[in-house]
Amino acid sequence: MALLDDIDEVLIPEEALKARIRELGQRISTDYAGKEPLLVAILTGAVLFTSDLLRQISIPCQLDFIATSSYGEQVDSSGVVRILKDLNQSIEGRHVIVVDDIIDTGLTMDYLLETLKTRYPASLKVCALLDKLPRRRRFVPIDYRGFEIPDRFVVGYGLDYAGRYRNLPFICVLKTQVYGQAPAIQTQTPAGRSAPA
Ligand code: PRP
Repeated sequence: MALLDDIDEVLIPEEALKARIRELGQRISTDYAGKEPLLVAILTGAVLFTSDLLRQISIPCQLDFIATSSYGEQVDSSGVVRILKDLNQSIEGRHVIVVDDIIDTGLTMDYLLETLKTRYPASLKVCALLDKLPRRRRFVPIDYRGFEIPDRFVVGYGLDYAGRYRNLPFICVLKTQVYGQAPAIQTQTPAGRSAPA
């Protein structure tokens, strides 16, 4: 079975991603000239975006990873976020840019920003490839934004459904039958990504 058979519609093609990420890299290179920013990528979805973004940054910069576990609305309306894997280094005095593939409800980024703020970074900014504003529950200041997208469950370029489709080189929507029922009830969180019972 080919992954492409499951795709209903490509929302953001590969070339558009490349062009936008080049722009973001150039902006970061300009804004942080003379500094050495630390990019903090949120595992796992941000891996592809971050690796391409890094290669578009022309100034010295460093990379670290953090992993979170969040719970979708269907499981826990409090939106609890936990850190599963913390950074390998101190961020005190560092210029930190938190990088994620998508801001959906904003719960993950809001929690991380509040947590990282307590560690005395010199500055703390957000870079997100996708901004799904219609579902926002917490305000998140996005300093570097790739694309605004509608309230649709998207996969590809790092984003998964049930662990699959991260390797697609574009952002797309899956055919309804892939989910077994309408994807509209799903959230961009692990709980929502599990196949509906
Ligand atoms: C996704 C995404 C963001 C988060 C956004 O990660 O990568 O980190 O959800 O959702 P929110 O704005 O509603 O908090 P997920 O927890 O699904 O893990 P993954 O990156 O490993 O797929």
